[in-house]
Amino acid sequence: ETVTMEKIVSFCKRRGFIFQSSEIYGGIRSAYDYGPLGVEMKRNVKDEWWRTMVHTRDDVVGVDAAIIMHPRVWEASGHVGTFNDMLVESRTSGRRYRADHLIEAATGRDDIEGLSAEEMTEIIQTDERVKDPLDGGRDFAPVRPFNLMFETYTGPVKSPENIAYLRPETAQGIFTNFKNVLDTSRVKVPFGIAQQGKSFRNEITPGNFIFRTREFEQMEMEFFVEPGTDEGWHEYWLEERWRWYTDLGLNPDNLRRYEHPKEKLSHYSKRTVDIEYDFPFSGWSELEGIANRTDYDLKRHAEFSGQKLEYRDQQANRSYVPYVIEPAVGVDRITLAFLVDAYREEEVEGETRTVLKLHPRLAPVKAAVFPLTKKEPVSTVAKKLYDDLKGDYRIAYDDGGSIGRRYRRQDEAGTPFCVTVDFDTLEDKQVTIRDRDTMQQERIPIEAVRDRLKA
Ligand code: GAP
Repeated sequence: ETVTMEKIVSFCKRRGFIFQSSEIYGGIRSAYDYGPLGVEMKRNVKDEWWRTMVHTRDDVVGVDAAIIMHPRVWEASGHVGTFNDMLVESRTSGRRYRADHLIEAATGRDDIEGLSAEEMTEIIQTDERVKDPLDGGRDFAPVRPFNLMFETYTGPVKSPENIAYLRPETAQGIFTNFKNVLDTSRVKVPFGIAQQGKSFRNEITPGNFIFRTREFEQMEMEFFVEPGTDEGWHEYWLEERWRWYTDLGLNPDNLRRYEHPKEKLSHYSKRTVDIEYDFPFSGWSELEGIANRTDYDLKRHAEFSGQKLEYRDQQANRSYVPYVIEPAVGVDRITLAFLVDAYREEEVEGETRTVLKLHPRLAPVKAAVFPLTKKEPVSTVAKKLYDDLKGDYRIAYDDGGSIGRRYRRQDEAGTPFCVTVDFDTLEDKQVTIRDRDTMQQERIPIEAVRDRLKA
């Protein structure tokens, strides 16, 4: 049976993974909050990315830049001016649509994106097939560009000089720190700068739960290479990023590469390849974009800031502007993919068990400790085991209900191990450890539990 969106959304709410934002007020569209299990899982996803992209490498360092940057940054990056969606308002229903989507859906054309507002208006007004999907009306206002950046003002005065933007991507905070990193750390090309953090886009059509929201979290890494070596590095990062997902247990049958056609590339890109995931409710959708951004950004920031943004190769005794390979991913989006991929409903002895077969590194809770009874001294021994482990791992302690019910609760949370302390433990100093996926139980010394979790 395929997993529906409704099932995932209600599961996430019921188990405290993800809630609608401001729910007590009726919620707000396209905003979600992570609950006690969700926040642990999301942190694990971020930590795993940071561990493999930064800590285990000698050639990548991190930064954590401000969300509100100098407004000129967005002129240099091209976000002011070109980071636009073309919007069209239907005069019959009052609804606004993305003009390119409206035309493409009605006509089957795939050459619309990139046309000017005037050209799109012309098509909409002359091609009879283009209708308001809601009421079939054909009375549209002229197409207008709409900037996706959230605007705000710094300071008390709402004047044009004080306009600031919430960043629509984390990448620019990396480019603007390129010189700082070069000057303060001993990096040599090829090297990368990584960043994780919130980004904001006033998306016209957010949706599919946490897949596309207006506030989201990104993990991006800009990898600076010598021009001429960029195509090889692009291939390298495509493979590395693919491996990251499959190492963390994502089913490779649900992953594929999507090569952006040349004519649809972003203004900065020489080649972009997405890693896509086959979501059961929406089909193949982008998880991550891996772009060859060339020397576009560094050159633009050099031009706009008047600073020299070059790399000096001491050995070759020459300076150049590096090319950039950028793996860019949304935390929320891949958290959803990991959740959907791990979600199972299995028949066990005539009953359905819901289980999240998450990779142990992503599981919100690594182990649960159960005393067979709430009474001492069994509970004392269980509590001590819990206290010994809890500083190093996220551990649950559960003494409520039958052991069977407690197993079910942990299966749903994706907890890889359950450890039960019983009366025999008092004699033989052994506990029963139960594996989430195989449901096999094994008797091991209480001393061996920590090593088992580490393994
Ligand atoms: N710096 C390049 C960049 O930002 P992007 O393809 O626009 O490229 C990168 O975004 C990733 O960020 C996407 O692959 C997606 O995972 C995530 N992302 C983008 N917009 C999002 C949104 N509205 N909600 C959730 N995730 C989003």
